[in-house]
Amino acid sequence: MMARLRTVKRSVIALLVVGAAACDATPPPVGMERGEELFETCAPCHGDAAAGDPKIAAPAIAGLPQWYIQEQLAGFQGGFRGRHADDLPGLRMRPMAVTLNREGDIESVAEYVASLDPVFPASTLHGNAGAGANSYIVCVACHGADGLGNPDLHAPPIVQLDDWYLLAQLRNYKSGARGTAPADVWGTTMRVNTLAMDDQAMQNVIAYVQTLR
Ligand code: HEC
Ligand code: HEC
Repeated sequence: MMARLRTVKRSVIALLVVGAAACDATPPPVGMERGEELFETCAPCHGDAAAGDPKIAAPAIAGLPQWYIQEQLAGFQGGFRGRHADDLPGLRMRPMAVTLNREGDIESVAEYVASLDPVFPASTLHGNAGAGANSYIVCVACHGADGLGNPDLHAPPIVQLDDWYLLAQLRNYKSGARGTAPADVWGTTMRVNTLAMDDQAMQNVIAYVQTLR
């Protein structure tokens, strides 16, 4: 009886040891290699080269700065973005950001995406770039005359983005789907600029931004 009990005990201990070893898998190091591995979960929507997929409203993200990608992923995780019931693309993206839950994951995948060449997708809208040039004067303060952004002001480059995506975001800021969470300091700064713009003004300024390429 004792012998049998001891055997059972020993196999329980053995099982526990094996279980502990399985749970204790050392996480892969933070950085490009881990980023590339994580990007496999992003590629079905954003594409292998992160060139985007307009059919599902997933933007080209290749070559965006690492700091901006990190901020936006944290924003999706924190509920700044992708929470509004009308924001279907944002709602699609949010759960993806939530899966980046290991320490260093956001940094790693952002570093990888930032290392890819920007794609400058072709225009799909027909705004009036001449009229848009006037509206862009306000934007220069943060996004720069060249549309390359300004990290000190947390303003991203906007020249390499899809025009339909830019329009969707300007509409999101204006409607309050983006830039209204109390803790979303940078989204709030951006939102103010959209309040007086109608759809035509948005399309015009976007047409102008695309001439900066
Ligand atoms: C199910 C499809 C899907 C997957 C998978 C996905 N995304 Fe997205 N992603 C989107 C959509 C749609 C948007 C646009 C959201 C919006 O309009 O606000 C987006 C937006 C983004 C943005 C914001 C870009 C900007 O200019 O602000 C970043 C950054 C991003 N995704 C990174 C990632 C990363 C990194 C992964 C993988 C971990 C990933 N996405 C996986 C669909 C997806
Ligand atoms: C006071 C500074 C400031 C001004 C002026 C400003 N922006 Fe922004 N913009 C920002 C910041 C900061 C962000 C990032 C906000 C966030 O994290 O949501 C941003 C984000 C954006 C985005 C979203 C990009 C993306 O990848 O999702 C677009 C589009 C944009 N701005 C266009 C414009 C246009 C067009 C103008 C002029 C009409 C303008 N901005 C004026 C600071 C500014």
